[in-house]
Amino acid sequence: MIYLNALRLDKDLPEGSYLKEIPAIRYLAESGLSFSSPVTFLIGENGSGKSTILEAIAVAMGMNPEGGSRHFSFSTYDSHSELGELLTTVKSTSPRDLFFLRAESFYNVSTYIEREVKDYYPDDDYHALSHGESFLKIISQRFYGNGLYLLDEPEAALSPQRCLNLLSLIHDLVSSNSQLIISTHSPILMAYPGACLYELNEEGIKKTDYRETEHYRLTKEFLEAPERFLRYLLDE
Ligand SMILES: Nc1ncnc2c1ncn2[C@@H]1O[C@H](COP(=O)(O)OP(=O)(O)OP(=O)(O)O)[C@@H](O)[C@H]1O
Ligand SMILES: [Mg+2]
Repeated sequence: MIYLNALRLDKDLPEGSYLKEIPAIRYLAESGLSFSSPVTFLIGENGSGKSTILEAIAVAMGMNPEGGSRHFSFSTYDSHSELGELLTTVKSTSPRDLFFLRAESFYNVSTYIEREVKDYYPDDDYHALSHGESFLKIISQRFYGNGLYLLDEPEAALSPQRCLNLLSLIHDLVSSNSQLIISTHSPILMAYPGACLYELNEEGIKKTDYRETEHYRLTKEFLEAPERFLRYLLDE
């Protein structure tokens, strides 16, 4: 199921804003971005704009940019960009569920779940679980399906085995009419079949194939011969 078909920028990026310095955001402003698969991965170097785009989608869809759902209204700091206010979202229909899960502010989300919404999740003590355990628990229990889910580097919390578990959770969500947009550096996650891979680079945003990604190629080459890389990297 695809709820969010495309993003468009109908207004200009503010003069002097750092947003204009990010090639992927300039590309988005000029050409928009379409979503044609239930699962889209945003990949690219550190600083290429993945979180900026996810945050902007969250704001444009009415979610808390620091993570959570529509009614999560905590705010611990105010670092989200104004991009979300400028975005036009092209939707086929509105998702019934929305959630933005980001590893970096996950602690705030679980604190919020514990304090504010205990009535809804009475048995859950997310702080008693490890980071990765609670991350997967939120996805398996709180993501109801028929939803739009944004995940920012979910692998940061997960072992390779748990990344495989997350692949099956993603598959369950797709089967229950959900759309996911996920930023990731994980060559395991981005193997999800039929996913659209958008690579953010110095030229803008480019659709790519799994085996063409640097993540796939570099990981594969490294694992096939770590000694070769290490000799080169560590050689005085
Ligand atoms: N509030 C801000 N003011 C100025 N620059 C910012 C601000 N927020 C982000 N940036 C810059 O915007 C660029 C994109 O950042 P973003 O967090 O979207 O990258 P990313 O692709 O998610 O990287 P990573 O893989 O490390 O998470 C970075 O160069 C960052 O320094
Ligand atoms: Mg990021």
